[in-house]
Amino acid sequence: MKSHMPADPRRSSGRITFPDAFLWGTATAAYQIEGAYQEDGKGVSVWDTYCNDLGLARGASGNVAIDHYHRYPDDVALLAAMGVQSYRFSIAWTRILPDGTGAINQAGIDFYNRLINELIGAGIEPVITLYHWDLPQALADRGGWRNRASVEWFAEYAAIAFNAFGDRVTKWITFNEPYVNLMMLGAFIRAATDPSVAMPVSPTDIAGELMADQAIEVHHWLLAHARAVQTHRSLALAGDIGITLSIHPAYPANDTDADRAAVHIIDGLHNRWFLDPVLTGEYPADILDLYSAKADLGILDGDMALIAEHRADFLGVNYYSPAFVTADPAAPMFGVSTLPNTDEQPAFNGPVYPEGLYDLLTRIDADYGHPTMYITENGAGFGPVDDTLSDGAVNDTLRQDYITSHLEQAHRAIEDGVDLRGYFVWSCFDNFEWVFGYANRFGLIHVDFDTQQRTWKDSAFMYQRYIRDNGF
Ligand code: GCO
Repeated sequence: MKSHMPADPRRSSGRITFPDAFLWGTATAAYQIEGAYQEDGKGVSVWDTYCNDLGLARGASGNVAIDHYHRYPDDVALLAAMGVQSYRFSIAWTRILPDGTGAINQAGIDFYNRLINELIGAGIEPVITLYHWDLPQALADRGGWRNRASVEWFAEYAAIAFNAFGDRVTKWITFNEPYVNLMMLGAFIRAATDPSVAMPVSPTDIAGELMADQAIEVHHWLLAHARAVQTHRSLALAGDIGITLSIHPAYPANDTDADRAAVHIIDGLHNRWFLDPVLTGEYPADILDLYSAKADLGILDGDMALIAEHRADFLGVNYYSPAFVTADPAAPMFGVSTLPNTDEQPAFNGPVYPEGLYDLLTRIDADYGHPTMYITENGAGFGPVDDTLSDGAVNDTLRQDYITSHLEQAHRAIEDGVDLRGYFVWSCFDNFEWVFGYANRFGLIHVDFDTQQRTWKDSAFMYQRYIRDNGF
């Protein structure tokens, strides 16, 4: 088995300098930071429902979150002081189209105009994610992503955003993490909301039937992505459009044929199912067989041609951790399972393995024809051991080591010819971590969720130096 030990940044040999145009960024998502959930005409999103009506986030919600909706000028000033060159954030669909389609809420457009202009005024490039999971509840009531009409709902919303902001925003991301949202989290939410669906044992042990069933929704996301790319190009806007995938490099737990075969399956379920259509316009045949045996995926004539014709300009990669995989005939996920995290100091998002970032970048480069990539999320939280505010400081050495060691691997990949153009830390601010509520902190900047006080952690000072020196 590969070592789980993170590379020690202090062991690195000499200075690392990134290419001149390398983009240093940070990332957030609307529901995790904005708050103001009922203000200025915003509609209800599924996350409002999950938190306020169904209690799926341990009693917490994004109703207030870190109140970024009101504090955005101060937050942008913090990013500017850190030297951040680019800021990835998402638009809440329900601020712009409270019912998902139809009537536009001008106050929502105005908010994002203010934010974008504030960023540009501070010398920070805005990068917009159109969809970071907060579907309008009105559309969920019409079947949500299961309804093929969702493809056109999204295309309508995307066109409104392109027309409103496309004169100033030159990097767009259609969707964030179809695997995590629809297959991992999606499986839990299905089980929590539909009595006929069994609760998965763990995030890595989801029944094959449920995954196949959720692949219908993935297919609609991919069609919606293609329609948004098509719309962006038809408007002849400057700039690029891509999609963000979570990539989980897989390694055999044991050096056996069975475990190597299990790796190929997990890699298919987690990675190839998304990389192949986005970058080649085809689903991988082996996984298509597995899913098609369990569900009708609703792939119609012309769908794959639409996806193939409207490929992204760049791929956004979110990387947190790898999967160490073993064959287990009893495992519900097509007879493969993932080893539990045995790290001495476990991070929230799984085993720390920086080399996985190098492996996935070089592999995508080699297998998919040298695409342009950005790391649109990478970062960590280790809990109170690393994240306690004391005397006005947070000495988060684990997070600093995590970011440094992953940047080393990103740099190695660039040296080896990968077209990697930038890196976005998840996240600039502590924020609402979905079903975990506020328990998991990922920020470079500490947020006191009661007083909304922001405090730079040591990692923020470190990142400021890295940006200033374009390396370390
Ligand atoms: C995801 C999202 C982020 C998370 C981050 C930390 O991967 O779940 O894109 O919204 O907050 O990854 O878990």
